Amino acid sequence: MNGKKIIIAIDGHSSCGKSTVAREIARRLNYIFIDSGAMYRAVTLYCLRNGIVDKGVVNHAALIADLGKIKVYFKNNPSNNHNDIWLNGENVEDEIRLLEVSQNVSPVAAVAEVRHLLVSLQQEMGNTKGIVMDGRDIGTVVFPEAELKIFMTAQPDVRAQRRFDELTAKGEKVSYDEIRANILERDRYDETREQSPLRKADDAIVLDNSAMTRKEQLDWVLNHVSKV
Ligand code: CDP
Repeated sequence: MNGKKIIIAIDGHSSCGKSTVAREIARRLNYIFIDSGAMYRAVTLYCLRNGIVDKGVVNHAALIADLGKIKVYFKNNPSNNHNDIWLNGENVEDEIRLLEVSQNVSPVAAVAEVRHLLVSLQQEMGNTKGIVMDGRDIGTVVFPEAELKIFMTAQPDVRAQRRFDELTAKGEKVSYDEIRANILERDRYDETREQSPLRKADDAIVLDNSAMTRKEQLDWVLNHVSKV
C-alpha cells in the first residue's frame, strides 16, 4: 500500500459486523471510521420523537419540511476515543441502537431527500482520504472510486444471534425472533428500494464471516488492504 491513504468502503447485510471490523481496521491504520448507518438511525430517531415515522410508515411531507432542522454529525468521545453520533446538540450514540429505531430506519433511509443530504455529508468526510466507511451504498454511490470495496454478509441466524447478544448485554429486553425478523425485513427493504438499493459493487470483494472470529476477519481485511 506504500503508506498512501485510501478509502475503504464496507457494505453489506444488516448486523453482520461491518461496524466492528471497520472500527478495528481504522484503529490499525490510524484512519477515520465513519458509521453511515448511525446517520440514518439519528434521522430516524428525530422522526420517531416528532411523530414523523410510526410503525414503519413515514410522513414524507413532514420529513421533508423538517430536514433543514435535523443536524447530524460525529464528535469524538474522549472517554473511549469513539466518534459518537450527535443529533441537534445531543449525543444519541446509545439511543439509535434501540430495536425501535431498527424497526423504522429502512423506510426513512429510502427517502430520496434524506439520502441526498446524508450522502453529501459523507462525501465531504471523504475529502481527506484515510477513511473507512460502512453502510449499504458506500462502494456504489458515496465513493464509487474507493480503492478497496468489501461486501460483507453472514448467515441470518448467525447475524440474529450476534445482535441479540449485543442488545441483551446492554440490558435491552428483546426477543431473538423479533430481531431475526427485523434483520430479514431490513435486508429485503434495503435491497428492493428504488434509491441506491443495497447491492454488491461489481469491483467489491465478498467477505462471509459466518464462521470467522473477529481476529480472522480483521486479518482477512488487512491482507486485502496490503494488496491495494
Ligand atoms: O448495524 P446494522 O447493519 O444493523 O445497520 P446500520 O448499518 O446501522 O444501518 C441501519 C439502516 O440504515 C439500514 O438497514 C439501511 O436501511 C440504512 N442505511 C442506508 O440506507 N445506507 C447506508 N449507507 C447505511 C445505512
